[in-house]
Amino acid sequence: MVLLISPVCSLTCTSQKLTGNKLYSNCTDLPQLDAYLHWTYNASNSSLSVAFIAAPAGKNGWVAWAINPTAEGMAGSQALVALKSGGSVVLKTFNISSYSSIVESKLSFEVWDTRAEEKDGKITIFATVKVPEKAEKVNQVWQVGPSVTNGKPDKHEFKPPNLASKGSLKLVETSAGSTTNGTSSNSNSTGSGDNKSGASRIGENFGLGLGLVMFLLSIFRF
Ligand SMILES: *[C@@H]1O[C@H](CO)[C@@H](O)[C@H](O)[C@H]1NC(C)=O
Ligand SMILES: *[C@@H]1O[C@H](CO)[C@@H](O)[C@H](O)[C@H]1NC(C)=O
Repeated sequence: MVLLISPVCSLTCTSQKLTGNKLYSNCTDLPQLDAYLHWTYNASNSSLSVAFIAAPAGKNGWVAWAINPTAEGMAGSQALVALKSGGSVVLKTFNISSYSSIVESKLSFEVWDTRAEEKDGKITIFATVKVPEKAEKVNQVWQVGPSVTNGKPDKHEFKPPNLASKGSLKLVETSAGSTTNGTSSNSNSTGSGDNKSGASRIGENFGLGLGLVMFLLSIFRF
């Protein structure tokens, strides 16, 4: 019973084996679309290495993981997209400048060691990206789509999980919060659990902040 209710034991990502037994210091079961992120942040050179795992929404579909340097959500995000092309998987980068404009281009930050592979119906995107110096978190967005046309991802569905697949990835633990520091062997799950609560906490604060601004605006308008 204790094992069943412990959130640490319910993480799926900790049991996922990556090709070549590549190891990352953290992993998280992303809250939407049955997706997973394995990641290592190296503060000394501001690099973030990730392995993003998800199943495309169709046999010849696509999966994407992105960082949005300027906002939350899809518009403005810098995306790594793994698309099915002639039976194999290719990785491309897209600048999602708006919901209607998806342009294949270099990203606004450095990215290297990129690779995508497919195994058991799931696609893994490997990449290392440069994040702003001393960044404590980045806005991440992920998505899955059903099909590909002329080398470009077709529109994904607009169901609740597709619209909610975003959040903040906390790169460094701040001393606030109730998480205790575990041993190195379970810091993985502690980190990712905290990540999720971190993301929802930020979401709540954001909502509250926005509500307050709207309220003040409505008072001072007239
Ligand atoms: C982090 O980056 C520095 C500078 O490139 C490097 O010397 C160090 O080995 C890296 N640490 C890890 C854990 O990869
Ligand atoms: C930073 O460190 C990582 C991990 O050691 C390494 O793979 C990467 O090449 C380094 N990046 C830069 C920009 O120095």
